[in-house]
Amino acid sequence: MEFNVKGISFRKDELSTITMQEIEINTISRSHFFFIPASGKTAILLLKAGDFVEQEFVDKYVERGMESIYQLEIAHPNDSQIFTKYLNALENANNERDRRLAKDQILKVFADFYWKDSQKSFLSFAIATFDQYYALPSEVVDKYQASSLVLYSRALLSSAISVATSLISGMVDPMFLKDIYNASYLMDYGLLESSDFNYVLSLACEEERNKPGEGIDILEAHHRSKEDINIFNDHPHLGADYAQLHKEIFFYPEIAEVIRFHHEKVDGSGFPEGLCYSALADTETTLIFSDYMVPYNEHIFKLGDGKIVIKEAFEKLKNGPNIFLLPLNKHFANWQRVMSWAIEKENIVIKSENQTGEAA
Ligand SMILES: [Fe+2]
Repeated sequence: MEFNVKGISFRKDELSTITMQEIEINTISRSHFFFIPASGKTAILLLKAGDFVEQEFVDKYVERGMESIYQLEIAHPNDSQIFTKYLNALENANNERDRRLAKDQILKVFADFYWKDSQKSFLSFAIATFDQYYALPSEVVDKYQASSLVLYSRALLSSAISVATSLISGMVDPMFLKDIYNASYLMDYGLLESSDFNYVLSLACEEERNKPGEGIDILEAHHRSKEDINIFNDHPHLGADYAQLHKEIFFYPEIAEVIRFHHEKVDGSGFPEGLCYSALADTETTLIFSDYMVPYNEHIFKLGDGKIVIKEAFEKLKNGPNIFLLPLNKHFANWQRVMSWAIEKENIVIKSENQTGEAA
């Protein structure tokens, strides 16, 4: 029997059961969770893969007497563990050479999973980077999840993409990677200052993503309130101001400042400051790349979505209208060069005096 629940399609024989005690908490769920009533004809979605799992979720269903629920696994534990293994290797390396080797190994697996034809979900990299780098107060993840599932899933995806872009650019300082992850996570947090992140605001953001420079036209065409227009224009400052309140979590507090500049454009036509390309640093353009890669919709994780989130989104962005306005040529070239290198490489063999390591 085929089920289709809130955009998730599956057969019952694809589900397995998991006891409430086995559900991992304070992390991102690797599975969709369902309850199937005795009739067996419907499935009720309890939590989506990619959602943050809190103790309250488990407690709620334990109190109702549930001992186990059904799960549809999207990211196999081995897939996120391989990223975690190399992110840890990068973090614990005591010299530059080992950091670079760990970076090469991460990018090799990343390319195999998300640039080639593969059934892997991007969820494995999203979980590994969240667990490794998320350091913001829990109110941030809670507020995203409670207020807008569109912005919640965008934060999860764009922060992971910023880590990948930084590694591709050769950044291997784990403290920098952590900072860029958290800065990216807050990039659009300011949009939640709106009394509600409404449909038109979301349309304007998506228009801006598809046709850089034209998002504001949507708000004006719909005669939106001054509040919505101000939030759209000012959200880079709002996110950065929040980051400044929590600057102790940043190893390099100046990284939090780059949030302010993630909508500036090559010719000075961007917002909120109207700076030109020459005034933008590579860290700013890393956030710009992630922001324009991820659509304004609620991402439903599924097998094989990695190639859609990365390779297909990359091609679409690179060939989109008005793309000349975004200072991204360097990132386009870096991504293409590094992904081609990683795909062509059979595996990465590391020879040192004492050991031989191997990736993929
Ligand atoms: Fe933004």
